[in-house]
Amino acid sequence: MVEGIAGRVAIVTGAGRGIGQGVALRLAKEGASVVANDLEQGPLDETLRLIEEAGGNAAGLAASVADADVGERLAALAVERFGGLHVVVTAAGFLWDGMIHRMTDEQFHAVVNVHLGGTFRVARDAFKVMREHARQEKERGEEVPARRIVTISSLSGFGNLGQANYSAAKAGIAGLTRTLALEGAMFNVLANSLAFGFIDTRMTRAMESQSEYVGGAPQGIPDAARNKALDLIPLKRAAAVEEAVGPIVFFCSDLSTYATGALLEVNGGVHMS
Ligand SMILES: NC(=O)c1ccc[n+]([C@@H]2O[C@H](COP(=O)([O-])OP(=O)(O)OC[C@H]3O[C@@H](n4cnc5c(N)ncnc54)[C@H](O)[C@@H]3O)[C@@H](O)[C@H]2O)c1
Repeated sequence: MVEGIAGRVAIVTGAGRGIGQGVALRLAKEGASVVANDLEQGPLDETLRLIEEAGGNAAGLAASVADADVGERLAALAVERFGGLHVVVTAAGFLWDGMIHRMTDEQFHAVVNVHLGGTFRVARDAFKVMREHARQEKERGEEVPARRIVTISSLSGFGNLGQANYSAAKAGIAGLTRTLALEGAMFNVLANSLAFGFIDTRMTRAMESQSEYVGGAPQGIPDAARNKALDLIPLKRAAAVEEAVGPIVFFCSDLSTYATGALLEVNGGVHMS
């Protein structure tokens, strides 16, 4: 068992697929109660079913992280159903790529609003609850446990062809997370971010091998660009979802009680080459 997860209450956005699903399943397996969110009811139900079949506790909220009230609804569900809120992992997202000279305002804002806006809304409303619970614990003279907000940035946050919207959002998430870490410190709310490189999910599979859309935006990467990107990775492969879940769970657990404001790059060694 990973220390400091059993008995905790966690919100995971984008939990219907990929990295978010992996995190929700793992936190539940470690004994956390999980409030799982996804835009799509079908994948969300599948995650809830897998958690329940494995003997875990979960509740679901199908909603977009672009909705103004999504953060409040998730935090309220965590407190009402499971009696607290200790961990938030924001993994909802999608791609709507295009070179900047062809990128529309709608395309730019849609991606920024889901990735950066969604992280902001969900983290803000969870933080309000975490801060208040910590304040009450302090007032009662109790020890204030570490609470955690874990956000997902990206290697693309350092710049990537065809991803002006996504890169801007992911760089923004890194800054947002450091501010959360500063404002959360006196309440023992720790905020950390992961900048992943190439994790094998529908977001990074060859576009030609799948037919996955969010709205009208195809998910995946054109095969030629994908092979070029893989070739630049010293480890010469994409990571499995579990290899992204591990570092996220590290930041959700008592293995990392002194890490806050960190941006951990998990990318197969890209910045060494
Ligand atoms: N796969 C990678 O290589 C990689 C690399 C860096 C960062 N990331 C980030 O990791 C996170 C998870 O991505 P993934 O690779 O697991 O992708 P994925 O497509 O497998 O899963 C994303 C999930 O988010 C959900 N979602 C999309 N829009 C949503 C919205 N508005 N509200 C709520 N849910 C929504 C989708 O329905 C889907 O189930 C994303 O933030 C992504 O940007 C992924």
